[in-house]
Amino acid sequence: MHEFKYKRNRFYCEKVKIEEIANKYGTPLYLYSYKTLIDHYRKLKKAFSEFKPLICFSMKSNSNLTLLKILIREGAGLDIVSGGELYKALKIGADPKKIVYASVGKTDKEIEDAIKANILFFNVESEPELKAINRIAKRLAEKVKVAIRINPDIEPGTHNYITTSKKEDKFGVDFKRAAKIFKEKNKFKNLSIEGIHLHIGSQITKIKPFKEGISKTIDFIKKENININYLNIGGGLGIVYSDEKPQTAESFARNISGLVRELDINLILEPGRFIAGNSGILATKVLYIKETPSKIFIIVDAGMNDFMRPVLYQAYHTIVPDKKISAYFKKKVDIVGPICESADFLAKGRRFPLVKEDDYLIVLGAGAYGFSMSSNYNSRPRAAEVLVKGNKSYLIREKETYEDLISKEIIPSGI
Ligand code: LLP
Repeated sequence: MHEFKYKRNRFYCEKVKIEEIANKYGTPLYLYSYKTLIDHYRKLKKAFSEFKPLICFSMKSNSNLTLLKILIREGAGLDIVSGGELYKALKIGADPKKIVYASVGKTDKEIEDAIKANILFFNVESEPELKAINRIAKRLAEKVKVAIRINPDIEPGTHNYITTSKKEDKFGVDFKRAAKIFKEKNKFKNLSIEGIHLHIGSQITKIKPFKEGISKTIDFIKKENININYLNIGGGLGIVYSDEKPQTAESFARNISGLVRELDINLILEPGRFIAGNSGILATKVLYIKETPSKIFIIVDAGMNDFMRPVLYQAYHTIVPDKKISAYFKKKVDIVGPICESADFLAKGRRFPLVKEDDYLIVLGAGAYGFSMSSNYNSRPRAAEVLVKGNKSYLIREKETYEDLISKEIIPSGI
């Protein structure tokens, strides 16, 4: 469920007509619904209430400070993967004791900053990383909490690029290596290994892989007699983009609660997409309708720099015109951006309403991995972001300017 829908043939975000916001701020434009964001967080919190879990919103899905502030105020923690995310998290006042830090490639500086910030723990992905954290902790005379990320070698049934739980993936350590780490944990004098982390992939719509990953991990904990305080089951919950039937928060919780109950443990979740995905849309304007002998192209002002998911993961996003139109193009259309490569598309081969130049189109499900993956390719300033709450809208990130594009460049004299 989300708060983006037609009312009297116009597309709305909560109580605001999207056309008005698009006219005011220009397109391409990211637009978020306060209510949808908070509802999704609350659904998950409620579904798992018996465990009083720490829900660490995965910042990589959307790290807009205002959205983070809203979630933090609701009690959310944060899942971070870089020094930049740590910086943003602290800037917006996140409680460091609710921050967990994954990533296979943490630098010494990032590790040091996170130790100094007093985060809850690092999700460690390899033995060399354990050694690095131990070395830095020793230098800082600290005892640092870590969780070991397990790679359970299972098939999560999602796109290859967002699969993180097969043995050939770079993430986590296999059970054998994890057992060795726990046996030799006294080697790491400045570490306290307090948890196990699991994140099997993203946009997973079936329960089976989650159950498989978690039960394999719990079997491991029992078999090896491992004494830990935290089980972090990661993120990965799939959402509806077209006709998927993902799990609801309740069915997900119901299905895995039995497993988690076997341990007396603090539960952590790291959802990104489930909370932010359907809380945001991308509004774009039709620039031209171009007919060629073989195709119809709807050329819009949002490109792959603004929204990478269609080309990178062949992701399907529902796209609708802002005004409801009953007539359709006679042929299927491709919806493409202005960027100079054929990878620049939002949709291919769609049956689509007969829109005209200057009409707005709404790309649904763009709240997660939309803005956060955007770039300046083709020297295009990044889009603005706007939040709607009830009948009010707030600019939460300005559109970048041409000056922003060159602000970090240096032209050496004498060149
Ligand atoms: N925890 C860890 C350790 C992760 O690596 C991720 C996502 C999450 C949590 C959150 O996963 P979620 O609940 O959002 O599925 N750019 C891709 C998705 C990449 C996901 C990377 N890791 C996309 O647009 O589909």
